[in-house]
Formats: sequence, structure tokens, C-alpha cells
Amino acid sequence: MVKSAEIKAAARIINEGGLVAFPTETVYGLGANALNPVAVAKIFEVKERPSFDPLIVHIADFEQLKLLTDGADENVFRLAEKFWPGPLTVVLPKSKHVPDIVTSGLPTVGIRMPACEIALQLIRESKCPVAAPSANKFGKLSPVSAGHVRKQLHGVDYILDGGKTTVGIESTIVAIEGNVCRFLRPGFITKDDISNAMPGVFDFVLSKPDKSIAPGMLNSHYSPGKPLFILNNQEKQPDRFSGVIRHSKNSIVSFNGKVIYTSENCNMAEVAANLFSALHQMEEDESVSTIYIEPVEETGLGIAIMDRLKKAAFQYAKTS
Ligand code: TXA
Ligand code: MG
Repeated sequence: MVKSAEIKAAARIINEGGLVAFPTETVYGLGANALNPVAVAKIFEVKERPSFDPLIVHIADFEQLKLLTDGADENVFRLAEKFWPGPLTVVLPKSKHVPDIVTSGLPTVGIRMPACEIALQLIRESKCPVAAPSANKFGKLSPVSAGHVRKQLHGVDYILDGGKTTVGIESTIVAIEGNVCRFLRPGFITKDDISNAMPGVFDFVLSKPDKSIAPGMLNSHYSPGKPLFILNNQEKQPDRFSGVIRHSKNSIVSFNGKVIYTSENCNMAEVAANLFSALHQMEEDESVSTIYIEPVEETGLGIAIMDRLKKAAFQYAKTS
């Protein structure tokens, strides 16, 4: 799909201090050379991202992990061997090589090795770690296709189009301090996945939103450009100007508006993979003035899905 000449061209732009949007298995990232503070500053500008919100640095091998942190002990290497490449970001003490702008002045840095081959090739070809937040305007819907990136961002030097992403929601973020594994953001990899892969190694802590630890854990995030409500049995219900996002074809549709299914039978991996595209489609559809979405059960991957939905709907929740 993406030719090696395109990867080479994109890597050249990264080396010259430019911005490249690229697919990962989770969402599209907006990348710059993580070791070049001027290039990283452009990410904040294009995304309109507040400078207090730190970036994740993407790597392609363990040498780059060692460059970015002096704090990777045996547990961290074991964790990385189990889950990388993959949708897990590990927050560790940063080394002197990481510019402060990447971490928003925090003494820690979030690091992840993505599983998407295009992302890995881009990092290898660039020969530097690549800082990349999701390639959307700050607070808006995450992009799971190249079209979603084009819709929101201007000033990107190159977009690698790898089609729709497979996982569909952002990586799980954990901070590791000794044997404490603190969840900063739920994602595709769950606490059970980690404890099953490494039994007895970590004590788990589930963090509450706290601006000082992870500014991205703000209550409102991932929002579409029109009102979004999580369907409940209370007074606010869809009308014919509404769009409804459902996760199963088993339930009866009780109105005539637009319906999008993320899954036929509430398969959580499918719901996650199709969640942001469904929200983008509803956002783009001029016949839809208000979006409703069914909740899912908050277990396993459902925890990450509901995290995104509650934040996407947060600003409207008070009026529902
Ligand atoms: O799946 C993903 O993680 C995607 C793809 C592109 O890799 N990236 C992504 O980046 O979701 P972003 O910037 O949209 O979300 C990163 C989150 C932010 O909420 C930020 O606050 C948090 O990671 N973060 C980054 N570095 C951190 C650190 N040192 N300590 C705590 N939180 C950190
Ligand atoms: Mg984001």
C-alpha cells in the first residue's frame, strides 16, 4: 500500500525537521524527530495543543529505548518484550537526550514501539525516535484514516496513507516505578493482559484524572463537532435529526434516523476498531444534528471504549 520510496521521502522530511502523519495500529500519529525541539514545537502548533500536554515517543528497537531512558530495569525490559511492538506506552524517567518540550517539562517520557509496519519502517528509515501525538486537533476526534488527518490538520508536510487502523483506539499508558504499574490511560492492553503475562511482578494502581500526572487525562477529549450523548433510558432520546451508533444488530431500532453499527454482535475489538470512524461519519453527515451512542459493558476492552465515550460526551453530559 505504501511504497518504500514514500517511506524514504517521509523519513527525509523527519530528518529535515518537518512533520509527517503516519498510521500506527491504534490511531494516526503526527510525527517529528523527537530529538529536535524545533521540529517538536511544530507539532504543538499544528495540533493547537497546549504546551503542558506531553508527547509519546515512538521507537523501533531497544537501543532507542536505552537512549531515551536510564530507568528501564529488568521488569521494564520483560514488559516490553511481551507487549512490543504493540499498543502499550510505558512512562519512564527521561534521559538527558530527550528535549523538555517533548515531555512538557516532566522528568518522565512516554515510550512506545508501534506494531504497524509502516510506522516501524518510518522510524528505522529516519534513524531517530519519532515523537507523535494523535494526528487530530487538540481535544477533537482521533484519526483512524489518512482522510481524518486531512480533515483536521493543516501544515503537515507529508501524510503516509496506510488505510484504516486496526486497533482503533489509542495505546494503553502505564507508568512503571519499581514494581508499581500505574494505569494512566486505559487501552487495548488491559490490566489482566499485563498481570497474566507477568504474574506476581507488579502491584497495579488505577489513576484518577490528575492534570499534573497526565494532562491528556482531561475530562473532555476526543469530541466530535456536534453534540454527543451516551444513550440511556433517561429523558433525552434520539429524534429524526439524530444519528445513533450501535454495537449490535440484536437490539430493535426504534426510530428512523441514521444508524451506524460498529459491530454485529458487540464484539469489543470490532467496536474499538470502528468507534472513531463511526463518530467521524456522524460528524460529517449534514443530516445528523445530534449523535447518540450506546454504552458498552465496562469490563476488559470495554473500559477503554467507555473512557473515550465519556470524554467525548462530557461537555454535553450535564444537559442530558
Ligand atoms: O496510540 C497512541 O498512543 C497514539 C499513537 C499515535 O501512538 N498516540 C497518542 O498520543 O494517543 P496523544 O498525544 O494523543 O496521547 C498521549 C497521552 C497524553 O494524554 C499525554 O498526556 C500522555 O500520553 N503522556 C505523554 N507523556 C507522558 C508522561 N511523561 N507522563 C504522563 N503522561 C504522558
Ligand atoms: Mg490524542
